[in-house]
Amino acid sequence: MEDFQVLEPELDCHLPHQGQIRRLFHGRGGCFAALNDVVIDAYPPVVIIYLYAERSTQWVQLVVQMLEQRLPRPLAAIVLQRRYVTGAPVEVVWGALPERLEAEEDGLRYQLRFDSAQNIGFFPDMAVGRQLVRQRAAGKKVLNLFAYTCSLSVAALAGGAKHVVNLDMNRAALDIGRHNHQLNDIDLRSTSFLAMEFFKSQSKLRKLGPYDLVICDPPASQGKSFNARQHWPKLLRRIAPLVKPSGELLACMNGPIYPAQLLDQLLAEHLPEATIIERLTPNDSNCGGNAFPDIDGHGETALRLLKFAD
Ligand SMILES: C[S@@+](CC[C@H](N)C(=O)[O-])C[C@H]1O[C@@H](n2cnc3c(N)ncnc32)[C@H](O)[C@@H]1O
Repeated sequence: MEDFQVLEPELDCHLPHQGQIRRLFHGRGGCFAALNDVVIDAYPPVVIIYLYAERSTQWVQLVVQMLEQRLPRPLAAIVLQRRYVTGAPVEVVWGALPERLEAEEDGLRYQLRFDSAQNIGFFPDMAVGRQLVRQRAAGKKVLNLFAYTCSLSVAALAGGAKHVVNLDMNRAALDIGRHNHQLNDIDLRSTSFLAMEFFKSQSKLRKLGPYDLVICDPPASQGKSFNARQHWPKLLRRIAPLVKPSGELLACMNGPIYPAQLLDQLLAEHLPEATIIERLTPNDSNCGGNAFPDIDGHGETALRLLKFAD
């Protein structure tokens, strides 16, 4: 099939080495016309195929065969998640899932889960954010907004941060976050976990602040809780008073159409007191190659590091 002539060479370019996490195929960037609905990630020894539109059983079987033939051993399981079905169910289509699975990136470990949750606990495209935060965190007081399972907090503390405050309204995700710190032998006294809705947490955050570095990585959209166009302006205005003079903000925008343009426009309009000092995309991480090809910045995560005035 035509699809496979495109898929095979891409997979061959991105095979994981020595157990590293890799995006094996990124169809969502619009570069592979017939495969816009397909993403494949390797978390050795498990591979996960994400489908954003329905595909036949035969198609799935052929992809599984292709992966099974190529992937380095050990390979425990190939899992399929149907993102287009309500609840995004996960099915093991080859092998068997290990009882516990951790992702390893830059020597740090993160718990993965294949239960009823839509996301498995880790976003490989945020490698560039984790790298940047780890490099800049030494001695800093950090606020990690929309922390999810706290991978950015783990990276900050591995980079020598003094303290990280993690905020997310999803308590179960923060519980995994707490475990992620323990997995990496991080003293829990250097971190706090606030299970709160951001727009209702201002007085608490002010009391714990101000911060040298604020990380802001909200969802593209999440029901009434977050909608990029509606909530980003309010979010930026609420963040400004939390940052110390000369402090920094890492702003990350995921998924809406043309996130880089939208983010730059919002920052210019609602945060004129801060200057952009770095612009990054997921391909700027050291995970190798162009792992997240994107036709025109259409859906690609945009990261901006800003510095506030003295
Ligand atoms: C894109 S994820 C964050 C990913 C995380 N930064 C990482 O790299 O793993 C978005 C998170 O925002 C949280 N969230 C969404 N709306 C929120 C709100 N209004 N207040 C607090 N948390 C919210 C969700 O629970 C989810 O965990």
